[in-house]
Amino acid sequence: MQKFKVFLVFVSGIAFVFGGCNANEPPGQPRVGITLAENKSYEASLYRQNCAMCHGVEGYGKELQGQQVPSLRTGDISKKSEEEIYQQIATGKPPMPSFKFQMTEEEMRRMAKFIYKDLQGRK
Ligand code: HEC
Repeated sequence: MQKFKVFLVFVSGIAFVFGGCNANEPPGQPRVGITLAENKSYEASLYRQNCAMCHGVEGYGKELQGQQVPSLRTGDISKKSEEEIYQQIATGKPPMPSFKFQMTEEEMRRMAKFIYKDLQGRK
């Protein structure tokens, strides 16, 4: 029994270490902002429904049909203003669709703020 307990501690230790690695984050990108998977906000659920399939479950971007979809956390986007992020959502840029027929004006504004502040951790 004692041996079994030691084994359990060992296994949960491994789970803890590997649990810290997120397969949705491409290597070489620092972790910034909140974790989407645990987030219960309205914006996070909008993200899961409308954006995750292209930008990845955690928003770090992903490769889709041979094209690299950019990260919404780091890289080029960190030089864009909240207004420019809003414009991208409202207008789109092929292959990314415009969301003005799926989301209300307020939802698109909230998404831009959410990406800027929560996902990127900017003030
Ligand atoms: C069909 C796939 C697809 C979906 C769905 C999608 N995007 Fe995109 N998105 C892209 C691609 C591809 C680009 C890069 C476009 C380019 O600049 O060439 C992009 C670019 C962006 C950018 C600019 C990134 C930068 O580096 O400046 C933002 C912001 C963005 N998307 C936000 C969103 C949000 C928010 C949603 C959900 C409401 C969303 N996207 C849904 C594919 C998608």
